[in-house]
Amino acid sequence: MQESAVNNEFNGDGSQGKLRAIRDRDHMQIKRIHQELRAAIIEGKGMERVIRSSEELIHVTILHFESEELAMEEASVATRGLHAELHAGMMETLEDISKDLEQRKICGAIELMKFFDERLSYHLTVEDAD
Ligand SMILES: [Fe+2]
Ligand SMILES: [Fe+2]
Repeated sequence: MQESAVNNEFNGDGSQGKLRAIRDRDHMQIKRIHQELRAAIIEGKGMERVIRSSEELIHVTILHFESEELAMEEASVATRGLHAELHAGMMETLEDISKDLEQRKICGAIELMKFFDERLSYHLTVEDAD
């Protein structure tokens, strides 16, 4: 009985640590690509570069949502269902923006910047701090 309590506690710490590590690593990567996209737009690096950065940002963010949800599941975070719903809402926006980008619309990249400046930055700093 006592041994299993110790194991549970250990597993809890381990999976909490894994969740923190995933967040630290992925959030840094997302912020880096976000800045690259900003630079590509501001410095007029051309449509190809802007589209490439935008697509990379969307791809990395969606992968992050998936691994974060999995890590929250492993760590039995109580708010994981609600958190997954927040991710799903943001994924819908990202899918709409992806469609604009497929048609090579620059407004897609601008929308993406706005979305990351406002909604996603708030998510990474506030909602992910649970
Ligand atoms: Fe996150
Ligand atoms: Fe999240």
